[in-house]
Amino acid sequence: MSIEALPGAARVLTDRIAVAAAAAQWVSEQAARSNPFRIALSGGSTPQFLYEALASSTFKSGIDWSRWQVYFSDERAVAPDHHDSNYRLVHDTLLSKVPIHPANVHRIDAGGPDLDAAATAYSRLLEAESGRPPRLDVVLLGVGADGHTASLFPGTPALDVVDAWATRGRADFEPFDRITMTFPAINAAAHIGFLITGNEKAAALRGVIDGSAPAARVRPDDGELLWFLDAAAAGTLG
Ligand code: 6PG
Repeated sequence: MSIEALPGAARVLTDRIAVAAAAAQWVSEQAARSNPFRIALSGGSTPQFLYEALASSTFKSGIDWSRWQVYFSDERAVAPDHHDSNYRLVHDTLLSKVPIHPANVHRIDAGGPDLDAAATAYSRLLEAESGRPPRLDVVLLGVGADGHTASLFPGTPALDVVDAWATRGRADFEPFDRITMTFPAINAAAHIGFLITGNEKAAALRGVIDGSAPAARVRPDDGELLWFLDAAAAGTLG
């Protein structure tokens, strides 16, 4: 298997800091082209370095943050200040450091008792703000070692939801239910960027290539798909 077998285009960088810098450059270029600029952000350890790069002096002053409308690919059923909240991660690493108006940050409200209602509300919000299907400018994603992306986990019903832009998700390795964007919502985006670092993603990348991983179902309907890999992740493909 080789990196050319990945769907879309791939860029290989030395390490996760270089991945973050390259992805930040790409995001800032997309942001310069769209007003408003609608972007969905993910949680996870890899994107964190991207958010820190965007908030750093290298990128911060060159970005018109007033254009930004921020969405989330997925969220755990926790309060927004919880350690495991993706909103908390994005807030602490990016939103609290750049001038994005709070009204332009559309978090998934997964902290209440009714997750189905929260998923429906987010689905409606995506459609009301960016159309049917929702045409986000950029969706940023990671891939878990099991091949999941957003909160679309192997063997779960969320993988097959086609009548909503957001739905419930569930990971079998942690106590939290989740809400996630669905494949139809992700695939409607204009640009999709995956951030993958570390050799522990080897099986997941192979699963993308052979079609067995949930992340293999990310195929933009009419858009760009780009993989930012570090050398460790890319090296596992030979
Ligand atoms: C979350 C994510 C998830 C993540 C992958 C990769 O769990 O909150 O949105 O889909 O992107 O699990 O995470 P790492 O970058 O930490 O490996």
